[in-house]
Amino acid sequence: MTTPTIELKPSANPLSDAEREAILANPGFGRHFTDHMVTIKWTEGRGWHDGQLVPYAPISLDPATTVLHYAQEIFEGLKAYRRPDGSVATFRPEKNAERFQRSAHRLAMPELPVETFIEACDALVQQDKAWVPAHGGEESLYLRPFMIATEVGLGVKPANEYLFLVIASPAGAYFPGGVKPVSIWVSEDRVRAVPGGMGDAKTGGNYAASLLAQAEAAAKGCDQVCYLDAVEHTWVEELGGMNLYFVYGDKIVTPTLSGSILEGVTRDSLLTVARDLGYEAVEERVSVEQWQRDSENGSLTEVFACGTAAVITPVGTVKRAGAEWRQSGGEPGEVTMRLRQALLDIQRGTVEDKHGWMHTL
Ligand code: COI
Repeated sequence: MTTPTIELKPSANPLSDAEREAILANPGFGRHFTDHMVTIKWTEGRGWHDGQLVPYAPISLDPATTVLHYAQEIFEGLKAYRRPDGSVATFRPEKNAERFQRSAHRLAMPELPVETFIEACDALVQQDKAWVPAHGGEESLYLRPFMIATEVGLGVKPANEYLFLVIASPAGAYFPGGVKPVSIWVSEDRVRAVPGGMGDAKTGGNYAASLLAQAEAAAKGCDQVCYLDAVEHTWVEELGGMNLYFVYGDKIVTPTLSGSILEGVTRDSLLTVARDLGYEAVEERVSVEQWQRDSENGSLTEVFACGTAAVITPVGTVKRAGAEWRQSGGEPGEVTMRLRQALLDIQRGTVEDKHGWMHTL
């Protein structure tokens, strides 16, 4: 199988500097897209081919395209940051590339070589570098690589054609409130994923499955829903788009990967960042009973959510059927904010990158 080189076909009409700057002044999350996108095709018998960087534009699909019916789709999320010297770097793109391969395997899709994934992201960031927000703020350029099955037909089987794309969107804080603590509804009946299912793959179906519970959380006045395991309805899994961390003084705990939890790149990085700062950082099962009890007796000092989009977001209020409590007085906790700053310092290039995590372009 050959690794395609991306052919550059840049736009003749990119947005003007003034239009782009107006967007960058208040990008929100996922609302605006840069001037270009990368596309690479896969065809059975031929492999990956026709890698191109082209103007950002709608794609046209036959109504019988299999992704529209049977949801063979996977995606990733990673960010490019502006460094103090004006250069640009992405954070651990190989981790996303490797997870993309694992997701592809789970969804019976072809695995894109890691180097092609990175080449595609690099080509887009290089072309649309002016879209990477200025150094120093909350903003970055969010990259969204994804792959869809493009065979036309209604037979249920792995498709024989796929399209891989990368698009990019300037991003501010994921939550409209910025780093303000979010409130969480612990759902004890709806589950996100089951053992042996695809909860550890980054596929749109998992996010579709989370939306009803998310709407129920919103109806209870909460920002996010937290899922428990699907068998015992006891063990904390994740928020659907983010992993969770529990802070016990100098010890931080994230739920052990169960097969139905997505292995977040931020989650993984924080285990290392926390140890670098002198904390004990472990993966352990955490039950919802333990969460409530330890918050009420004060031993659980802080809780935070983490993900590429959300970075680190403190948890303020937690509600479950018949109970409600606050974490760290409903304010961002000290450990949470220290870890957040330490991670952002690495990503923005203001401290030494001692783990070699940044991929400069
Ligand atoms: C991310 O953090 O990159 C995610 O994928 C979460 C969400 C925006 C889908």
